Amino acid sequence: MRYFITTFGCQMNESDTVLLGSMLQEVGHQETLDINTADLIVVNTCCIRQSAENKILGYLGNLKHYKQAIIAVCGCMMQKDGIVEKLLKSYRNIDIILGTFSTAKLPMYVEQFAATSQKIIDVAEEYAEGDLANTNVHELKIQQGQRGHSAQVSIIYGCNNYCSYCIVPYVRGRERSRQPELIMRDIRQLAKNGIKEVQLLGQNVNSYGHDLKEKMDFADLLTQVNRVEGLKRIRYMTSHPRDFSDKLIKTIASLDKVCQHFHLPLQAGSNKILSLMNRGYTREEYFDLVNKIRIFCPHSTITTDIIVGFPNETAADFADTMEMVEKIKFDMAYTFVYSPRSGTPAAQISDQVTIVEKKMRLQSLQELQNSFSLQSNTKLLGQMVTVMVEGPSKNNPNVFSGRTDGNKIVLFKPLCAPKITARGYFRPGNN
Ligand code: SAH
Ligand code: SF4
Ligand code: F3S
Repeated sequence: MRYFITTFGCQMNESDTVLLGSMLQEVGHQETLDINTADLIVVNTCCIRQSAENKILGYLGNLKHYKQAIIAVCGCMMQKDGIVEKLLKSYRNIDIILGTFSTAKLPMYVEQFAATSQKIIDVAEEYAEGDLANTNVHELKIQQGQRGHSAQVSIIYGCNNYCSYCIVPYVRGRERSRQPELIMRDIRQLAKNGIKEVQLLGQNVNSYGHDLKEKMDFADLLTQVNRVEGLKRIRYMTSHPRDFSDKLIKTIASLDKVCQHFHLPLQAGSNKILSLMNRGYTREEYFDLVNKIRIFCPHSTITTDIIVGFPNETAADFADTMEMVEKIKFDMAYTFVYSPRSGTPAAQISDQVTIVEKKMRLQSLQELQNSFSLQSNTKLLGQMVTVMVEGPSKNNPNVFSGRTDGNKIVLFKPLCAPKITARGYFRPGNN
């Protein structure tokens, strides 16, 4: 069959999509980039905010035009209470519904559906063979050859943090670290295949290893990855400020391949809200962490995520967030209006703040942060920087796009003719 996959959500989902593709290819299916020619359409979903869910439901509605194809839906949204009933009632064109613990069973279910035409639903919460944290499909994607210059490698699945606003622990389950020897084997092979950059992924990478038999933490893993020959850059996503140990900062400062980019979601600047969010740190502790990073890694960039409008966030709480942004001067920030997620503790709180007020706060925050993002970019004017080239820029094929160590995008005109491989990816060097 020809399959077409659409991905919503974060980098973990993107990485899982690559694994899904590898599994399908392993049993003889081929990818098509044109949905009209697909015999199988897979939608990998997200439910972090209501806006993501709305977008996905709209997308699923449109799939009724593709009557020839088997439609499979998987990912986080499938694990939410009530969603299966909703899909069965209003989206009858969906043939296979797979939860996050069953993702690896997709090829088997496709075969089963093709033979029986009976709808398949598997949203069991079992840490079994369908769980990507458990399978050897990671190796598969590498054997098949990863495209491009950069590869994502999931190192830990799930989340134990239960931030009070967040759905992830409910839909992705408890933390499961992958075995270090499997991760290292994958990365060594990727490097042999010509990959220059790896991104180590997890909802909270710095809790990596706590559930392993051997004593091993994220800093130890980074040290091992740094030794892999052929690799030029190591990135990681996402790290929780509470778990960012001194050992980890010093390790990152000492390893030449680990990018000096710290993404540290602040979420809120008021201690009251941080506590209600169950984030496990105060504004003072966060500020100390940033200062320590800036001492050990003076050339680093620091980026963040911030939520405005958590239930009953007062004007004074919001002013605390603005003050933190003002004091820290992040290089970049992803900002969100709080979105209630049913089943999470925060969704139980009756909220007095209007959506209009929340949107106004978001706008003020974005205006403030934009001024610091501009400042941070202006600092690079006239400087020579090393970038990892990602390929032609989206808007202009004659201009190339690359990233600095600090994760800033740089557009430039190449001096020599670029080598473009199938699907438009640019491969640096001779690979
Ligand atoms: N595991 C990562 C990020 C997960 S989701 C971490 O903890 O940093 C990415 C971001 O989405 C979060 O950092 C948070 O800012 C935002 N987010 C999560 N739940 C949200 C909600 N209910 N409403 C609005 N934003 C939310
Ligand atoms: Fe969600 Fe918090 Fe886990 Fe991040 S650390 S995924 S925000 S519960
Ligand atoms: Fe969304 Fe799931 Fe990622 S809810 S943000 S795709 S972990």
